Amino acid sequence: MRVVGTSASDLALAADILRSGGLVAIPTETVYGLAGNVWEPKTLARIFEAKNRPQFDPLIVHVANPDNADEVADLSLPHARQLAEALWPGPLTMVLPRKPRVPDLATSGLSTVGVRCPSHPVARRIIELAGVPLAAPSANPFGYLSPTRAEHVANQLGERVDLIVDGGPCTIGVESTVLDLSESPALVLRPGAVSMEQLALLLPSVQLFDRSTQSPRAPGQLPSHYAPRLPLHLRASGTLPSARPNAMAVALCFGAASYKNITASGKFSRVVDLSARADPVDAAAVLFSVLHELDTGSWSELWAERLPDCGIGRAVNDRLYKASVKD
Ligand code: TXA
Ligand code: MG
Repeated sequence: MRVVGTSASDLALAADILRSGGLVAIPTETVYGLAGNVWEPKTLARIFEAKNRPQFDPLIVHVANPDNADEVADLSLPHARQLAEALWPGPLTMVLPRKPRVPDLATSGLSTVGVRCPSHPVARRIIELAGVPLAAPSANPFGYLSPTRAEHVANQLGERVDLIVDGGPCTIGVESTVLDLSESPALVLRPGAVSMEQLALLLPSVQLFDRSTQSPRAPGQLPSHYAPRLPLHLRASGTLPSARPNAMAVALCFGAASYKNITASGKFSRVVDLSARADPVDAAAVLFSVLHELDTGSWSELWAERLPDCGIGRAVNDRLYKASVKD
């Protein structure tokens, strides 16, 4: 496995490898993706194998420009084009009826396909140079923490990827919002940086998938996903000082006031503040890299407090919840 930067020749190399059926880890604004040519079933099979991902979990197809989405999906559903115009390029994946040409492996045989136009200039340039849409799930082993830095990919997938393009840390830090427009009303299957509040302005009937009353449409909605090895206990905001942690437990808190209270409780070996100024955007940006770092340390368990349930805070709470659930 080779790691390169983002010079013109690096990106040309990435595109060559993709065109010839290889796997390239690419930076996006959300998390690193494990990219391959969507038209090549053999390449798609390698993506599933590299991630140890069950083939029933469909891949997201990435396009360089909003106009290219028509190559893989039917955008004639109500609101699809309007949403694409308003929110692409950006951290939104739309689940739409697929075009027949899309291999079954990409969609896990579903009649729909997840499509996204990322805003990261390196990702867009690589897709453009490759000249084909790229299937790209997050570049992590199935069920484990998503990678927000090139070294996370190198540590987790190593030789299973042909090339890693190091574009620095991902700015958003949590995976895209997955919006299923093939459902009526439209359903957010995975909260992300494009918030419910933002979507509701364009799509007033939109609903958030509710795991307590609805059955999962896709494996990304299964509990026990995005999980660290360490056990994680998730608690309501402000309640960690009353927790009963084991020795060598770490608290993940949100905001300077909370940090002060939890530290004063003296119960935790380490307290990590996801955002001293209590900004959920900051917390999302560092969440996975903090979890990666803690997961390789000698800690016994993690305790985290929930963020306020709005904006990107919903996405952070969703990932913390999924990290807290063990089979
Ligand atoms: O931000 C992101 O979306 C990143 C970057 C690399 O773009 N990609 C990513 O891919 O998170 P992945 O495969 O890790 O997550 C895609 C999620 C999965 O939960 C999958 O089940 C769901 O999207 N998904 C994909 N196609 C779908 C479809 N046709 N119907 C329902 N869910 C779908
Ligand atoms: Mg993933």
